[in-house]
Amino acid sequence: MGVMHIPGHENQRPREVSLEEIRAVMGDCRLCELAQTRTTLVYGVGNPRARVMFIGEAPGKNEDLQGEPFVGRAGENLNGILSLAGLKRDDIYIANVLKCRPPGNRNPKPEEVLACSPFLREQIRSIWPDIIVTLGNPATHFVLKTEIGITRLRGRFHQMGHFVVMPTFHPAAALRNPAWQELLEADFRMLGDYLARHPVGSGAQVPAEHSEALPKAVE
Ligand code: URA
Repeated sequence: MGVMHIPGHENQRPREVSLEEIRAVMGDCRLCELAQTRTTLVYGVGNPRARVMFIGEAPGKNEDLQGEPFVGRAGENLNGILSLAGLKRDDIYIANVLKCRPPGNRNPKPEEVLACSPFLREQIRSIWPDIIVTLGNPATHFVLKTEIGITRLRGRFHQMGHFVVMPTFHPAAALRNPAWQELLEADFRMLGDYLARHPVGSGAQVPAEHSEALPKAVE
């Protein structure tokens, strides 16, 4: 299976490629310098048929040691607020833009995102969720193809091809800023409301009241 040449998001469900196949292609990935410092490649975890997929930035210290996304403090915060959307960890799939921890949790470098993101794109195509929740700026910028900041994008849904996208604050950042935590929780309630009003199979479309054209996207 070739994963390195992948077109952008489409409306049609693509061919089925399993999450295991994509993981097998990654193998002991050495495509960027993070391979030299990582303990474990953190691929992703959860329901391969999830209706809602969450995307974070990159593994932190605990994730690097345990090989699973969002198992540290940010993960505890995420677990705590999932119920606001009527969701459990078992319902969802979680992955990061980068599969390996940047040393000291520094921001991802553009070349690392470029090297790693084809795998995330394949994961999205395999799961084919209705809704993608992007946690923080790197995930939001990757999915929405914009450089607009999260504070301007959050609080509403965006349509991106087939997907309804809900950008929101990163749960780690929200732990440091109570005002952001409140907004993060408000966004999760908005997601729960959307899920309740759009039962499975009803087709995922941005509800009219939230449907605003994205400010000009920057590629
Ligand atoms: N922060 C992230 O963005 N992802 C993780 O997996 C953990 C912390």
